[in-house]
Amino acid sequence: MGSDIQNIKLADAGRKRIEWADKDMPVLAHIRARFRAKKPFKGLRLSACLHVTAETANLMRTLKEGGANVVLCASNPLSTQDDVAASLVRDYKIPVFARRGENRKTFFAHIAQAIAHKPDLTMDDGADLVNAIHTSHPALCRTLIGSMEETTTGVIRLRAMARDGALKIPVVAVNDAKTKNLFDNRYGTGQSTLEGILRATHVLLSGSTMVVAGYGWCGKGLVRRAQGMGANVIVTEVDSVKALEAAMDGFRVMPMKKAAALGNVFCTVTGDINVITKEHFKLMKDGAIVCNSGHFDVEVNVRALAKMARAVRKGVRPNVDEYLIPGGKGKTKRIYVLAEGRLVNLSAAEGHSPSVMDMSFATQALAGAWVVKQKGNLAPQVYDVPAEIEDEVSHLKLSAMGIRIDTLTEEQRKYLSAWQEGT
Ligand code: ADE
Repeated sequence: MGSDIQNIKLADAGRKRIEWADKDMPVLAHIRARFRAKKPFKGLRLSACLHVTAETANLMRTLKEGGANVVLCASNPLSTQDDVAASLVRDYKIPVFARRGENRKTFFAHIAQAIAHKPDLTMDDGADLVNAIHTSHPALCRTLIGSMEETTTGVIRLRAMARDGALKIPVVAVNDAKTKNLFDNRYGTGQSTLEGILRATHVLLSGSTMVVAGYGWCGKGLVRRAQGMGANVIVTEVDSVKALEAAMDGFRVMPMKKAAALGNVFCTVTGDINVITKEHFKLMKDGAIVCNSGHFDVEVNVRALAKMARAVRKGVRPNVDEYLIPGGKGKTKRIYVLAEGRLVNLSAAEGHSPSVMDMSFATQALAGAWVVKQKGNLAPQVYDVPAEIEDEVSHLKLSAMGIRIDTLTEEQRKYLSAWQEGT
């Protein structure tokens, strides 16, 4: 199978990047060694639609060592690391369909290539591949053993498909595993989002007001880190319990309409649509910076902003567009949008660090092997990652970090399973 990448000459740089990430992915390396011996994917074709990063490259290597015939396409038009794509093709002989900055047509043409591979297994980040299979190639669902989903937005879409009886294959919600979301969503998104904002803008967070929309694990991680850098954080939420949690964690909580006038930097991490839109842009201060770290580019309504704009200056810095909109009293104000409203952490930075992707992708790899083992026994529904996998990944990570923990004594085990003892 061929590939469609930006430039094969970038492969040397990509290889260095993959190797650099690999040294911080010991759990995945451990699983790779096991897969090399046991070949859990022997004879199977696997199509993955993921962010094409150095960390993903190490997952692809692991699946290939496990016997899978692997093909990779991009899960986002702006997150592809072209040098990594080149190295995967040249050095690891893995076909890749991804070019950073690809347009919508190419993005879906690349997904079509992943489908043309006739996969037995798929791996998704956002459910675009599973969606395209169900809508354009439903016959493939008959032979697909199953799929694994990496992100919150994808799991939400898949659960909606299952609820409507539209889901035709078993899917494992890797995102929902504790070994994924407690670490990747919280610490990974927290750090990489700030990194994206800072690389793009070079602003000082200290003393600025940062508005974060959404207080799920990603939002929680982001606000803590922003606070740690001296930002004055405001949280907006629609869920009353999460809003309460944010308030009791010490943050100001208010509707976006109020926060809009106060913020210097805005970031959405909700997974929902039109969280920041025309009514909010109107209220923002001159120079406000707006970005998104949720999966799809629908959280910030950039189209509405473009319609309001008297002029747009694209690329005033890499990944920064300036929108000049009416500022009242005949004045013009400037609003800066980062990475076109796409995931700022993967578009303007490198996504999550390898050390945290180690756990997410170890969980992915083991979930894939589990699905193959269960072939024929799974229904077309969304499954949780089995507890044994979470247990194994967390133990392996602790051991790689040189951390030992206590184990229950026989007496403690008995106590925990008894009900007779009390006061
Ligand atoms: N999602 C967030 N960060 C990522 C990374 N570094 N690689 C792949 N997927 C990611």
